[in-house]
Order: sequence, then structure tokens, then C-alpha cells
Amino acid sequence: MPRTTPVPALAAPAARVHDSLVLEPRDVRFDWARLPLHWVPDEPMATHILNVLHLLLPEGERWFVKVFKEALPLVRDEQLREEVLGFIGQEAIHAEAHQEVLDHLLGQGLDPRPYVRQVAWVFQRVLGERPGLSPARRHEALIERVAAIAAIEHFTAFLGNWILNSPGLDRAEADPTMLDLLRWHGAEEVEHRSVAFDLLVHLDPGYARRVRTMAMAGPLLVHLWVRGVRFLLAADPTLDGRLRPSWREAYRITKRGLLPNPVKSIRSGLRYLRPGYHPTQEGSSSQALGYLATSPAARAAAGR
Ligand SMILES: [Fe+2]
Ligand SMILES: [Fe+2]
Repeated sequence: MPRTTPVPALAAPAARVHDSLVLEPRDVRFDWARLPLHWVPDEPMATHILNVLHLLLPEGERWFVKVFKEALPLVRDEQLREEVLGFIGQEAIHAEAHQEVLDHLLGQGLDPRPYVRQVAWVFQRVLGERPGLSPARRHEALIERVAAIAAIEHFTAFLGNWILNSPGLDRAEADPTMLDLLRWHGAEEVEHRSVAFDLLVHLDPGYARRVRTMAMAGPLLVHLWVRGVRFLLAADPTLDGRLRPSWREAYRITKRGLLPNPVKSIRSGLRYLRPGYHPTQEGSSSQALGYLATSPAARAAAGR
């Protein structure tokens, strides 16, 4: 499989490219038969920090799809409705693509199911629908879940933008199929980065809910991520529990360009709270489309 590299942003004005986007689900397929357990060579910690995505995304993105399907009848704008439908189609495929990696990990002797059950509990029980609510309370809870998704989508777009601009992973000779999965997904996250936010503003233009749900979603994601890394390092059958997560090791990996800079990540979370914030201010739609035009998986999907 040819190695894919980050592509420079194209010259077209960002707003024009973004406004003319039609979100289409791409029916990608990946062959994991030859994926090594440590797909960033000699970097089990970096591999597992990034592997947390596979633990979180299938349950998380299925929850996004469920919530957005519930919210669809509330949308009174035809273009936004089309975008929500495109978002639902893309996220459904993302969830299944990451699920296949989980199945592959299981086949390699790393059983992800105990942690995935915890993630499922968070999305289905803690953040899920509460039975017995009045129609008004149910409506309010639905908008709150849309707001939580808008906050999480800020981070998926941040990560998507990072993975499209992460030459450190190429220098480290990370597995090209995994890089293509992460960059295809990252590109689609950049492509649809404004949908959840626009849906939230459509349903509730107020500022308080945005702040409140980011204050919940940001720490929750960090907590789930740290737990996920600990879990994967302990469950990795080749490590025998010898490798423990440490901030020093995370710093070294970040310096090598294998992870996003944590200071930039926190700053990004704070930008979401600016009153004039809009997701199109971050990332580049033209760069995302540029990657999708060269992604082996997306090109194969286009030819099917
Ligand atoms: Fe996604
Ligand atoms: Fe997304």
C-alpha cells in the first residue's frame, strides 16, 4: 500500500470551500491482517495513546448518530438538515471502521472489551436518554446532548487537523494503513466540523449551555483517555505490565511529533469558549478534501 503523507492546504478561500461542501459518507475498507500490535514501530506508549481512539470512537460515534437522528425532526433549515444527514452517514462509518481495529486487537491477544464496556456505560447510561421524563424535559435533555456532541466535535476536529499535519508519524514509519484510517477520519472530522455546532446554535443560540457542556466534555475526555492508556498498557500481552504511563514519556513522545502538543490542546479547548467562535475558524476544509482525494481508502471507496 502506498504511504500517504500530509498534503498542503489548497489555495481556495477557506469559507468558499467550506460553504460549498456536500457531506458524503465514504464507504472505506481497511485490511488489518498485517497490522503490527505496535503500529508506531518501537513506540508502544505512542501506539496505545493513539489506540484509545479505537476504544472511544465506536461507542461515542454510535451515540452521536442516535442523538442526531432524534434531533433531526427539530431542524427547520433545509441546508442544515442535509448537513446533519451527511454527518450521521459519516459518523456511522467511522464507528464501524474503528470497531474493526478493536476486533483485530482482540485477535492479537489484547482484549479491549472490559474498557469498551465502561465507555458504553458512559455513553448509553450517563449521557443516554433518561426514561420517564416529561416532553419538555426530554426536549431539554436532547439539546444538552447535542451541545455535548458539539463540544466533543471541537476536539475531534482539533485532532483531525493535527493528524493531517503530523509528519512525525511518517518519520517514525507508522503503519500506512493505520495512518490512512486516522487521516481519512481526521479529514472527515475537519470536513464536518461545523455541523454539530451549527445544530446547537439552531436549537439554542445561548452561550451558557456551550460553556457548561465544554466544562463537562473536556475533563471527561481527558479522564477517559488517561484510563484508556492505562488499560491498554496493562492489557498488552507483549508488555507484561512493565510499561507504565508517565508524563516524562508523554513529553518525549510529543517532542517526537507523535502526539498533539498538550498546551495547544488546552488552548484549543479554551478557544471554543470565545463568544465569536465558529468551527470554521480552525482547520482547513481544502486541506481535508486534498487528503481525501489522495487517501487510498477514500479513493478505493469512490471507485466502488
Ligand atoms: Fe467521526
Ligand atoms: Fe465528527
